[in-house]
Amino acid sequence: MKSASLLFGLLLLLCVLVVQAEEPIAIKFSHVVAADTPKGKAAERFAQLAKEKTQGRVEVTVYPNSTLYKDKEEMEALQLGAVQMLAPSLAKFGPLGVKEFEVFDLPYIFDGYDQLHQVTEGPIGKELLGKLADKGVLGLAFWDNGFKVMSANKPLKGPKDFRGLKMRIQSSKVLDAQMRALGANPQVMAFSEVYQALQTGVVDGTENPPSNLYTQKMFEVQKFVTNSEHGYLGYAVIVNKAFWDGLPADIREALDEAMAEATVYANEIAKQENIDALAKVKASGKSEIIELTPEQKTEWKKRLAPVHQQMEDRVGKDLIQSIYQATGSDISKL
Ligand code: LMR
Repeated sequence: MKSASLLFGLLLLLCVLVVQAEEPIAIKFSHVVAADTPKGKAAERFAQLAKEKTQGRVEVTVYPNSTLYKDKEEMEALQLGAVQMLAPSLAKFGPLGVKEFEVFDLPYIFDGYDQLHQVTEGPIGKELLGKLADKGVLGLAFWDNGFKVMSANKPLKGPKDFRGLKMRIQSSKVLDAQMRALGANPQVMAFSEVYQALQTGVVDGTENPPSNLYTQKMFEVQKFVTNSEHGYLGYAVIVNKAFWDGLPADIREALDEAMAEATVYANEIAKQENIDALAKVKASGKSEIIELTPEQKTEWKKRLAPVHQQMEDRVGKDLIQSIYQATGSDISKL
């Protein structure tokens, strides 16, 4: 009798161990934008690739649209290990203590995606991701979104049109300086709160790539959208370092592969997604799209160029110079 119950106990233990061994490793991937955006789609693609490449040993669950955490909370949650993966915009790394990422927010620092990729796909990008390590965070990749438009309930054709407007920004000192250079009052606000703030007049306007403006329906509460492409918004995909380092080596390798493929996908779709989103905003008839003349664009650039020098202490003069060198473009010479 005694030996039978011992055997039963052993069998039970074995079953528990087998079930535990088969339980997939769970990765929670939280983000703040809609699923139907470049980041949302790339996150889903990563989840699918991760499952395939690990034969189901890893299960990535994507939580879009701030359903799990809002901007500030998600960074804390990652460091605490409550989520394992995020892709915050590069403008949101200041609170983590990595101010250098705000270099991507400098107005007109990239003239198009090719120039951007010289940085994100080159040694400067690698070095920037490396700065995260001592924050308990590992930077895996840069994912593109796009170049920003400005929106408000009045036409924003030139810098003078911004005077006194309350403009929502992400938590970046560079964006703060940019809005102040235009004569506007910048207001830092979580992404999930922007639609309502625009609707109720808590803020007058905002900036974002068209994919975000469209999928959050911000265009429904903004009468005018200027296709200014005055700055870039993109992401760093990050993981909790202790979690990542603790994964079995073969799993990590498979996930690295999945990330590399998801990154190619993200950066292939981003440009077209934004072109399509702007076309949909236009087709809605709810916002008027303003295209700037070359003269107007020059006026914007002249007004915003001094922000580069002004932000040298914040993001690093050498970093700015190395980006000018990598892209071959230097707006401060205007
Ligand atoms: C914003 O807050 O405007 C963006 O960072 C949202 C995003 O993740 O694209």
